[in-house]
Amino acid sequence: MRFIHTPAVLAGLTALPQALSFPGPPHIGFNLDAAQYGQDNIVSVDVAIIGGGSVGTYSAFQLKDAGKKVLVIEKKGRLGGHTETFTDPETGSPIDIGVKLYYNDPIVYNYYKRFNLTTSNINISGGPAPQYIDFRTGKDLQGVPPSNSSALAAALGRYSAVLAKYPQLERGFFLPDPVPEELTMPFGQFVEKYDLGALVQFFFNIAGAFGDILELPTVQQFRAQSLELLATVQDFQTSSVMNNSLLYGRAEAELSASKSLFLNSNVLCTERVSKSGSVKLLVDTPQGRKLVVAKKLLITIPPTPAALKNFDINKEEFDIFSQLKGVGYYTSVIRNAAPPNVQLQNLALTEPYALPPMPGFYTCNPSGVNPALHVCYYGTKLDQILSDDDARAAIIASLKQYQAANGVNLTGPPEFEVFSNHSPYYLMASAEATKEGFYKDMYALQGKRNTFWNGATWRTQDSTACWKFTKDVVVPQVLAGLGAGDVGV
Ligand SMILES: Cc1cc2nc3c(=O)[nH]c(=O)nc-3n(C[C@H](O)[C@H](O)[C@H](O)COP(=O)(O)OP(=O)(O)OC[C@H]3O[C@@H](n4cnc5c(N)ncnc54)[C@H](O)[C@@H]3O)c2cc1C
Ligand SMILES: *[C@@H]1O[C@H](CO)[C@@H](O)[C@H](O)[C@H]1NC(C)=O
Ligand SMILES: *[C@@H]1O[C@H](CO)[C@@H](O)[C@H](O)[C@H]1NC(C)=O
Ligand SMILES: *[C@@H]1O[C@H](CO)[C@@H](O)[C@H](O)[C@H]1NC(C)=O
Ligand SMILES: *[C@@H]1O[C@H](CO)[C@@H](O)[C@H](O)[C@H]1NC(C)=O
Ligand SMILES: *[C@@H]1O[C@H](CO)[C@@H](O)[C@H](O)[C@H]1NC(C)=O
Repeated sequence: MRFIHTPAVLAGLTALPQALSFPGPPHIGFNLDAAQYGQDNIVSVDVAIIGGGSVGTYSAFQLKDAGKKVLVIEKKGRLGGHTETFTDPETGSPIDIGVKLYYNDPIVYNYYKRFNLTTSNINISGGPAPQYIDFRTGKDLQGVPPSNSSALAAALGRYSAVLAKYPQLERGFFLPDPVPEELTMPFGQFVEKYDLGALVQFFFNIAGAFGDILELPTVQQFRAQSLELLATVQDFQTSSVMNNSLLYGRAEAELSASKSLFLNSNVLCTERVSKSGSVKLLVDTPQGRKLVVAKKLLITIPPTPAALKNFDINKEEFDIFSQLKGVGYYTSVIRNAAPPNVQLQNLALTEPYALPPMPGFYTCNPSGVNPALHVCYYGTKLDQILSDDDARAAIIASLKQYQAANGVNLTGPPEFEVFSNHSPYYLMASAEATKEGFYKDMYALQGKRNTFWNGATWRTQDSTACWKFTKDVVVPQVLAGLGAGDVGV
């Protein structure tokens, strides 16, 4: 979710690497024989968890608090994933530039309480109206009428009535079989069918980064704009001290104290169904190479074939994951982006529902703690991932064009304080694949080959929704799997 509110540099676009061909077993050349490793280099656990973002961390504590021995393996030097907090060098204040908003829901308070932390309400409708910029030209669009709140409320009512027909979608991709046509039609068509034009801008802005919102299958909007989310929109929660990384700092301390965390670590190869029945992983850590022996594996990273290249993926898994596509999403803190306390919002009045073409900015928001700093959100359409260099260049070019077009004169040129690439974001299947049972097939992987799967791809880009899915769906499956000691094939 994103806090509400150029000609695109198309030349900079690079395609996502083409789907890799089905790889052979990746453990050739590595030795997974325990006899080759000293006791100090063998770690035995109930569940090895790959990825220590929002979902991997939550899963770890659910399992740990259920008495299971866990190990979280994270490639970065910190937990939190998309949760990122920048420290303003001048004031020392935190600026959350990633995950920030949670539901007003006990699952959030209880998780925060688990770490002696609290959340507070945050009003996302507060603050001055944004300046609407057409970033294709950089021009400030004067006189944009305020959105019609009664029309929005009426459209939300019609949308919610359709959603209410599919209550099982509130828990995950539990689609009816056959999949009803209105779930796979392009969202633009669904908007026309139910007269929802008044809510398109609102959905575009609250979703975070959804690129070509009108072209995506409608079920992807249902996935994001659930009834539970809409019910909490007036009442979001955030860290009481405005630092959403604090929870991950405490999680890190607790997992480290029980030797349950490998940071800065890289899985070299896996043998998910070994002769002994357990999962074996060879992991490079800052303390050397370790052999991890686990009863079950829980993979929470975005499951692209590229990301899973070291994980003895079989054909069934490969065929499913190679269908996923995501959007490009880039966040940054920028000095001299716009005048102090001015929010820039991208709008294209000539386009349907005034949606700005991507690649382009979503918004540039005042940082709230330092008038010289803005937090900017930039994105692309599905399957158009920009390299870091191309995204950085496009962001700066777009801001310079806006400044020149409007005679904006700041103390210097726009420059990055920090830049973060969250791509590929919102991995999803096509309408065609969805109709053919993609999500049923993907969910059917749970528990096969000693492996369980979790993360935003399995639910939605929404921490609270993912935590509920973890608690209600995935963790019970993992616990049942541990109980049965079933190896599967
Ligand atoms: C800018 C931004 C703002 C957002 N704002 C909100 C918000 O306000 N509220 C909200 O609910 N949601 C928000 N989201 C959505 C957010 O993505 C989800 O809430 C949640 O973080 C998804 O968790 P995850 O664990 O699936 O992914 P991540 O948090 O991305 O975690 C994946 C982890 O796996 C690690 N990893 C990747 N590959 C490997 C590997 N090979 N080996 C080991 N580790 C690996 C990564 O480093 C990362 O730590 C936002 C997302 C972004 C990008
Ligand atoms: C926010 O919390 C993280 C994790 O504990 C910490 O490393 C960071 O210094 C904090 N930021 C600020 C500005 O307090
Ligand atoms: C929370 O506070 C209690 C009481 O002071 C303490 O026992 C506990 O260890 C703390 N837990 C964490 C995760 O900080
Ligand atoms: C949030 O801010 C808006 C705009 O300032 C205001 O109309 C609304 O009443 C506020 N909501 C809450 C719950 O304070
Ligand atoms: C707002 O929308 C309603 C329809 O829901 C319409 O009757 C009304 O005229 C609109 N108001 C404005 C100011 O456009
Ligand atoms: C911008 O500001 C600088 C410093 O205040 C000044 O020298 C310069 O003339 C200004 N340029 C414009 C176009 O206003």
